[in-house]
Amino acid sequence: MAAYECTEHAYDVVVVGAGGSGLRATLGMAEQGLRTACVTKVFPTRSHTVAAQGGIAASLANMGPDHWQWHMYDTVKGSDWLGDVDAMEYLAREAPAAVYELEHYGVPFSRTEDGKIYQRPFGGHTTEFGEGPPVQRTCAAADRTGHAILHTLYGQALKHNAEFFIEYFAVDLIVSGDGSCQGILAWKLDDGTMHLFNARIVVLATGGYGRAYFSATSAHTCTGDGNGMVARQGLPLQDMEFVQFHPTGIYGAGVLITEGARGEGGYLTNSEGERFMERYAPTYKDLASRDVVSRCMTLEIREGRGVGKNADHLHLHLDHLPPEALAERLPGISESARIFSGVDVTRDPIPVLPTVHYNMGGIPTNYWGEVLDPVPDDHDRVFPGLMAVGEAGCASVHGANRLGSNSLIDLVVFGRAAAVRAADVIERDAPDRPMDGSSIERAFDRFDALRYADGAVPTAALRLEMQKTMQEDAAVFRTDGTLAAGCARMNEVASRLDDIGVTDRSLIWNSDLMETLELTNLLPNALATIVSAEARKESRGAHAHENYPERDDVNWRKHTLARIDGTGVRLDYRNVHVEPLVGEKDGGIELSKIAPKARVY
Ligand code: FUM
Repeated sequence: MAAYECTEHAYDVVVVGAGGSGLRATLGMAEQGLRTACVTKVFPTRSHTVAAQGGIAASLANMGPDHWQWHMYDTVKGSDWLGDVDAMEYLAREAPAAVYELEHYGVPFSRTEDGKIYQRPFGGHTTEFGEGPPVQRTCAAADRTGHAILHTLYGQALKHNAEFFIEYFAVDLIVSGDGSCQGILAWKLDDGTMHLFNARIVVLATGGYGRAYFSATSAHTCTGDGNGMVARQGLPLQDMEFVQFHPTGIYGAGVLITEGARGEGGYLTNSEGERFMERYAPTYKDLASRDVVSRCMTLEIREGRGVGKNADHLHLHLDHLPPEALAERLPGISESARIFSGVDVTRDPIPVLPTVHYNMGGIPTNYWGEVLDPVPDDHDRVFPGLMAVGEAGCASVHGANRLGSNSLIDLVVFGRAAAVRAADVIERDAPDRPMDGSSIERAFDRFDALRYADGAVPTAALRLEMQKTMQEDAAVFRTDGTLAAGCARMNEVASRLDDIGVTDRSLIWNSDLMETLELTNLLPNALATIVSAEARKESRGAHAHENYPERDDVNWRKHTLARIDGTGVRLDYRNVHVEPLVGEKDGGIELSKIAPKARVY
């Protein structure tokens, strides 16, 4: 085994990641008296949740009638009937309490005239089970909602004495021979020391893998680290083919312009000045679901109605809105538009383009956040000692397409659920278990091999090839041809990892090594995405397959499971949960309301 000195720590729970879900889980665990550590590669308030803008969905009914059943229906329809119904019910039911809890923790929500939490419309959120007008369900702190939530949760976690290990990079899971998670190996970035964290439960809250693509709204830190760690243990990743493109990334920069901009009355136009969404989605127009708007934008550009000298993007108008409303409700994006595209939003439209934003797929879990390791006769088998929450997890509450503002609520609802479950299953008086020696050895050996890798391929070059492949071949629209080419290109990219070269051998602030470790996490995500997409012969949610333009519920209403095997990917499938948690006669949703049907907006 590679020789490294190592500090050992023991906790009941180790949460990896300090974004919204990681902090809510950490806080919940600590609140219940569990010995809790949060290990994070960036300072907590720099986690990517800080960039979430438009808001958090909950049926508070502050601006008009709303019900959790309507929210659940919209989420089921938004998921294109791929989400697990029990998880979606849990989300919609728990959402109002979760938002009030945030309010009481101190989140500075925007307010209505009468002092209630302000809510704005967001795409795909409707009334009357999709038959009524759009609903104002998205609770907002101007357009800096993620920022407000993240800072508040960090303060609360500190108040409850959770311990933070900041700027520690989680290298690998430590797993026992009989298949349970026992902890993690981490590398402290600022002094180069190595740390083993022994834990009864590890919670992966490591976010998405947007950086597998060339242009993404995600931070550069969004490298799917938890997914990579899970894939290396032979555990599956679920529904990875479903990658969300946000309709309004700033052209050329990829920076997010919140859907709240359209919620506040903004609209898209093409080169003819036409509000083209009226043609595609006559009822909800610019507030149709994200996958729909992104596809319509792509079609407009393809058909030659893009704007700009290359006719390759579109315009988002806010210039008709009162400047005071922009200053009060959308100050952040007004600033982003000025900085990243030189536009004064009170006078000119913002140049925008659909941009990779969110991963619906991830580590399969139940709605308590427990990681699943499905086998043929038990699709819901739990892998002991491991949980996943937030964008890293796939509960599956977003199915094939997530509704805007359902991510922030997912973070806090399922972060809390994981804490509730952990408090139930952890035996507080049991002695700490010794960790598996050979698993520790494998983790150190992998780290050491990358540290001393002396191949010919620089990490940045290989990463760029991966990003371009994913951008070109796993895009908004896919075909048999692009997907087959993408699989071949990604296999070639992945095989070149054997020839990677790291030039800096030190252990202190070695960004070359850290980016290489991140690349080893991005690659399994990218492979699983493109191989899962190539196999799915239908169109559903964010997976728009031009050779199979229809949704096929008979053959494809099932979750994809992708296991990485060397550089290959092995696919399996898992049943979708179609039963709600609570029956209709006990106040649950009427089953006929959520039966699959055509998805029109
Ligand atoms: O458009 C936005 O503000 C993004 C929200 C979300 O992804 O939920």
